[in-house]
Order: sequence, then C-alpha cells, then structure tokens
Amino acid sequence: MDAFSASLMADKREIIFAPTVYKFQTFAQMAEEFKLNERDVVLTNEFIYTPFMKDLGLKCHYVFQEKFGAGEPSEEMIQVMYDAIPYDSYDRVIAVGGGAIMDLCKLLGCKRPDTVHNLYFKRFPVVHEKDVIAIPTTCGTGSECTNISVAIVKDEKDGVLTGGETKLGLVSDDIIPNKVCLIPELLKTLPYKPFACSAIDALVHATESFLSPHRKTMTSELFSEKAMDVILKGFKLIDEKGQDARFEYMDQFVTASFYAGIAFLKAGCGPVHGMSFPWAAPITCPTARATICSSAPSWTTMTSTSPTVRS
Ligand SMILES: NC(=O)c1ccc[n+]([C@@H]2O[C@H](COP(=O)([O-])OP(=O)(O)OC[C@H]3O[C@@H](n4cnc5c(N)ncnc54)[C@H](O)[C@@H]3O)[C@@H](O)[C@H]2O)c1
Ligand SMILES: [Fe+2]
Repeated sequence: MDAFSASLMADKREIIFAPTVYKFQTFAQMAEEFKLNERDVVLTNEFIYTPFMKDLGLKCHYVFQEKFGAGEPSEEMIQVMYDAIPYDSYDRVIAVGGGAIMDLCKLLGCKRPDTVHNLYFKRFPVVHEKDVIAIPTTCGTGSECTNISVAIVKDEKDGVLTGGETKLGLVSDDIIPNKVCLIPELLKTLPYKPFACSAIDALVHATESFLSPHRKTMTSELFSEKAMDVILKGFKLIDEKGQDARFEYMDQFVTASFYAGIAFLKAGCGPVHGMSFPWAAPITCPTARATICSSAPSWTTMTSTSPTVRS
C-alpha cells in the first residue's frame, strides 16, 4: 500500500468539513458580504473577470492565471505566481476559477517556501497564514474543500532528480480553504466540453470514494451517494433536453461536485485516478479527461475484485 493510502486508513476522522460554506446568486453579493478591498488578491481568468467582476469597480487586486502559463499548475508556474504576487501585498486570497486556480490559491494562503520543489517533497513545512475564499467556476474537482494542492513537479528518487516529471498532491489540512462560496452563475460561461469533463470528474470522485477499498466512511454513505444521484439526474436531463439544459441545473452540479470533494477528501479515490495521473501528466492531458479514459477498465476491475463493493 502506498503512503497516501496508509495515511488515509490511519486517520480515524469520519468527516472533515473544514470550510464555512456560502451560496450566493452573484459575485457582487459575495463581494458585499466579505467587504472585498485593496488587501484582497483575486486570482481568476480574464474571461471570468470581464463578465462578472469588471463592472463592479472593486478595489481588490485582480491577477489572471493565464499570465503564469497555460495548463495545470507546475513548479515553474507556481514560482512565476509567487514572483508576480509579493507575499506582503495581500491579507486574503480569493480564488475564482477551476481546480487549477483553487490549487494555486491554496499555496498563496501559505508561508512562502524556499523552493516550490521542496514544498512538494515535504522538505519545507506547510504553514497556513492567510485566509483563502474558494469560489469554483467548474463543477468537477471539489478542490474548494479538499486538503490537496496538485502540481506537475520534477520527479526525484532518493532525493535525486530523475529528469522526468510527475503529478504530485501536496496534502495538508492546513491548505483547506477557510471559506467556500458556491455561485452557480459563474459557470454560465463554461463551455460544454470542459463542463462535461468536470462533471464526469466529480462523478468519478463520488463513485470512487463510495467504492473506496481502503476507507469506507460516513462521507461515502452520505456525500458520495448524494453527489452521484444529483449528477446522474443532471446527465439524464441533458440527454433528454440537450446541452443547454445544464444551465437550469448548474446550482445542483456545482453543489454535487462540492459534495463529491467532501467524500473523497476522507474516503479517497481509487484506480481511476490512480491510473490517470501517471499517463496524463507527461502528455499534458487534463486529469478530468484522463479519468474518463481510465474509467471503463478500472470499474471493471474494481467491481469484480473489491471487497467493499456494495450492490
Ligand atoms: N486539489 C484537489 O482536490 C484537486 C482534485 C482534482 C483535481 N485537481 C486539479 O484541478 C485541475 C483541474 O481543474 P478543472 O477540471 O476545474 O479544470 P481547470 O481549472 O483546468 O479549468 C478547465 C478549463 O476551463 C476554463 N474555465 C474554468 N471555469 C470557467 C468558466 N466559468 N468559464 C469559462 N471557462 C472556464 C479554465 O480556464 C480551463 O481552461 C487540475 O490541475 C487538477 O490537478 C485538484
Ligand atoms: Fe478528479
């Protein structure tokens, strides 16, 4: 058993529900509730900022993730972000985006490490110092409530770089965001393809945590089942009424992906994610899409061998 699975099993807590959770109709309502100001850094994308934030004229400091490079977070991207956002220039971090932005903002809330590489390889401690408010604009990762920040890092063996890269999760309860705001309106601009990938990613989180061979918990009984039920009803709706039907169901999709995040935070995922990470990172395939490719063979194996599978 790998070290991460072993630590999940050793941890006797049943539900970790760390952030305080809010729901708002609009970004403006959230900004009013939290009195966003010039000491807040908002990490987002320009194409989310323009329709939802620009006209509000808030004084906070907006930074666009695309300025740091394309794709999923990497050691280089995180260092560029650190350089672009001096640590003493903000008191609070607002993450408005997909899982990548959530994961980057978790790092902005922590003490700056000597190197990003040392942080991910646990040679520098994770120390939470600034509040993070997480606002997801996809309905997939659940990263807004998890204790993981994923990045593509330089691989090493016995402390020596191998020349390759790997996708690694930095795990610590200290990086769970302090607050989560669910604002379904922000998903209006999410195109159908990333929407579909992220919704399937959330379904896989829910299913894998429900079937978790390592750690069946209260979260799998409650949150995984609810997430699967809500997401599958949404897929049925889209099947019957077409792609645009997702807009009338966005509140449910974003809520369900949050539930799935709570579920896999404690019960863990399984072979679908386990098989996706190693092949997806080197070819820069988004994990959400990779989980779709890895699903069919993994479910077949899992449901035929796992002792914890229930009918
Ligand atoms: N920390 C965790 O618990 C956890 C769990 C799973 C995945 N992840 C990480 O999350 C990332 C994947 O997250 P994701 O699936 O949300 O994808 P993403 O963050 O990469 O976003 C997918 C694409 O959709 C765009 N987008 C996002 N919201 C949009 C909106 N409202 N309108 C228009 N475009 C929008 C993004 O710019 C991007 O191009 C990966 O880096 C993965 O490693 C983290
Ligand atoms: Fe995932």
